Amino acid sequence: MTIGISMAERVRTLEGSPTLALAAKAKALLKAGKPVIDLSAGEPDFPTPEPIKQAGIRAIHDNRTVYTPASGIPELRAAIAQDLTTRQGVSYEPSQVLVTSGAKHALYNAFQALCDPGDEVIIFAPYWVSYPAQVHLAGGRARIVATTEAQGYQPDLKAIQAALTPRTKAIVLNSPSNPTGALMERERLQAIARLAMERGIMIISDEIYDRLVYPPAQACSLLQAEPSAAAHTLIVNGVSKTYSMTGWRIGYIAGPKPLVEAMGALQSHSTSNPTSISQYAALAAFTQPIPDVAAMLHEFHQRRDRFVGGLNQLPGLSCFMPGGAFYAWCNITQLGQPAAVIAARWLEDIFVVGVPGEGFGSADYIRFSFAASSHSLQEGLARLASWLRQQKAAA
Ligand SMILES: Cc1ncc(COP(=O)(O)O)c(C=O)c1O
Repeated sequence: MTIGISMAERVRTLEGSPTLALAAKAKALLKAGKPVIDLSAGEPDFPTPEPIKQAGIRAIHDNRTVYTPASGIPELRAAIAQDLTTRQGVSYEPSQVLVTSGAKHALYNAFQALCDPGDEVIIFAPYWVSYPAQVHLAGGRARIVATTEAQGYQPDLKAIQAALTPRTKAIVLNSPSNPTGALMERERLQAIARLAMERGIMIISDEIYDRLVYPPAQACSLLQAEPSAAAHTLIVNGVSKTYSMTGWRIGYIAGPKPLVEAMGALQSHSTSNPTSISQYAALAAFTQPIPDVAAMLHEFHQRRDRFVGGLNQLPGLSCFMPGGAFYAWCNITQLGQPAAVIAARWLEDIFVVGVPGEGFGSADYIRFSFAASSHSLQEGLARLASWLRQQKAAA
């Protein structure tokens, strides 16, 4: 039976996250017995480190299974503030930190707190899929500013200036970037920070991949580049990627106290506290040595070199060398068809799953994750090589 429900405009045109949808499709094919090589996942393929798991288990045994303050347990807010102070070189108080149900939720809070209907947010393409959707959900408008592979995905200052309007509320930065893996240069960050201060707009700096950087590349955060921009900055981060804790759902946002308080109030009426058990587990990540992080980084580094190197040897494909994160943003323009078509063919013909770039703002690229086993990465490369050979033979 169909009933005529008239849904709100904000959800009528909203589609679910394409990356999550594809991951679900790959899992379904795998379950059906297909030899799927899933390179779509945006999460580390390592278990959560043992001390963190133990802290979660302890929290259950200690009955820390009840509501916590909506903005997070004081110990965790303090530990995050301490970590930020040490790593950013700018002093943070616990009251400037809001613990959220993942970094995605932190970003959601930020757009809700900043945007009135018609307000604008500058987002650089290629972008992480949820930024424009979340701006839309807040009633705002995403102003997309393109960056190019030839420029190493560094945003052009003139293009940013041209996109600014009296309605601009914020600029979103994501370094290292999902999907490109590019790191923003210090001078570029400084220039953007100064522009934001001059114009009185906020910078939302999504630093979720800041610990996943491959030497000799070095990450530079916005505030490391320009500490005086702290009053105009919201830092978004979390434990999902660094500590292989994607399912625990703990992120945070830090910034000027009035904004953090406003987002805390918002959270108190929407999700309430992030999961209590997960908060205690995350506390262990901030307060105990976790050697697994260095080991995981080393492994990702090797996989990056082999996988991106391998893609660059395949005729018809080319790939930017990412300085951070765990994605290979593969250029498919030479294949002459949009990413959605090519990705669908790879899925059907050779069961290799990559995420088509359309959702990230570019139909010329497919995103592979190298947070997959070395065997899967090797096998993926081999199948792509044979598919490309067949295409050439058939042409
Ligand atoms: C750029 C970026 N920001 C935020 C997130 C969200 O992370 P979380 O799992 O903590 O919500 C992701 C996850 O894929 C991401 O890639």
